[in-house]
Amino acid sequence: MKVLIVGGGGREHALAWQLRRDDSSIELIAAPGNPGIAELGRCVNVAAADVDALAALAKSERVAWTMVGPEAPLDAGIVDRFRTEALPVFGPTKAAARIETSKSWAKALMTRAGVPTARAQVFSSASDARVAVAAIGAPVVIKATGLAAGKGVVVAQTVNEANDAIAMMLDGNAFGAAGAEVLVEEYMTGEELSLFVVTDGTHSLPMLAAQDHKRVGEGDTGPNTGGMGAYAPVALATPAVMGKVMDTIIEPTLRAMRDDGCPFTGLLYAGLMLAPEGPKVVEFNCRFGDPETEAVLPLLASSLADPLRAVAVGDSLAGARAFQWNPGAAVTTIVAAHGYPGTVRSGDAISIPTPLPSGVTVFHAGTKRDADGTLRTSGGRVLAVTAVGDTVAAAQRASRDAADSIAFAGKQFRRDIGWREMARARAS
Ligand code: AMP
Ligand code: GLY
Repeated sequence: MKVLIVGGGGREHALAWQLRRDDSSIELIAAPGNPGIAELGRCVNVAAADVDALAALAKSERVAWTMVGPEAPLDAGIVDRFRTEALPVFGPTKAAARIETSKSWAKALMTRAGVPTARAQVFSSASDARVAVAAIGAPVVIKATGLAAGKGVVVAQTVNEANDAIAMMLDGNAFGAAGAEVLVEEYMTGEELSLFVVTDGTHSLPMLAAQDHKRVGEGDTGPNTGGMGAYAPVALATPAVMGKVMDTIIEPTLRAMRDDGCPFTGLLYAGLMLAPEGPKVVEFNCRFGDPETEAVLPLLASSLADPLRAVAVGDSLAGARAFQWNPGAAVTTIVAAHGYPGTVRSGDAISIPTPLPSGVTVFHAGTKRDADGTLRTSGGRVLAVTAVGDTVAAAQRASRDAADSIAFAGKQFRRDIGWREMARARAS
């Protein structure tokens, strides 16, 4: 069976690795893929957002189904297009992807459905937004409504900082159309969780909760990034908490989307805050998270390919077996390039020791291979180094040691991925 994977980051490498682990007879094609994925399948030089070329590729290769990794092709309508051509595809339609691509749409949906989330108001006028900020006071959160590559959220500690963010997004036009409206949102406190749910629009299969580390610096300090690491499972995500998340967040959201005529099929990613009054939504994404995918999938003990394929071909997940998980924990350390998350340098030669210790997997994110075979940096997040172990502490040590053993000029990584879990374990 041929499967097409759209994308070329660490998430897509982890998905490719897992599909092959599930079923070694799967023949993988990736567009555009990366040098890590190239060891598992064939990479084709087609951009992830080129929907026409991807449809042509899926047809000419007669792929059984297509797995879409990033949000850009979903926003470009890849699922709608593939469905009109009867090409099975895993992901939401463009309309359903609005749960990620339009924060104002997502907020209105949650409000209609009674899903717990921070209160927010939408503004296209900077002066009106400033009036709202003055009324709420700091801390307060300012968000560009559209896709802004992870840079559209400012958690403002002062009213001045909030007003600066409004000026940058609305007056400064920092994100173009994506920032033509801003949300002024209530500040929430609590621990964050990332939860992935595979859904056919009605039935859903939750995965293990993970925790992302968005800040560049140890102890969660410094500027936000695409994610410097992740771990799973998270002890705070008890069965009782997860039951509440499914009942008060996932189920009502899916129901509201069905009622609106845009059922969500694919991977619903709930970014959650465990607030004192209960779990609340920080944001939804319409695809697997990166780097959480690289931490969650190595713990999976049942098939990922089966439910993904079922959703892609339009089968129901009613009666599908819940995901099974191995005991222990996984820690993913992102090894980033010089300058990340600012202007990054590319082209530094990378060396990865072989063999890697058992339990360690290196997923490629921003790498490229020269004609002479040299592996080089090509992007901010270069490698995602996952280790599984009996505990988060053991997995962290193994992931960090492996990150230490990888060499390239300007390499940077956090040595503390999973620290919150370890601090909580010490405190209890
Ligand atoms: P997002 O891009 O929406 O995930 O936001 C990035 C980060 O900003 C989140 O992971 C949170 O840490 C923080 N954040 C977003 N919204 C809020 C909020 N309403 N209250 C507190 N922190 C928030
Ligand atoms: N890890 C955050 C994201 O994938 O959006």
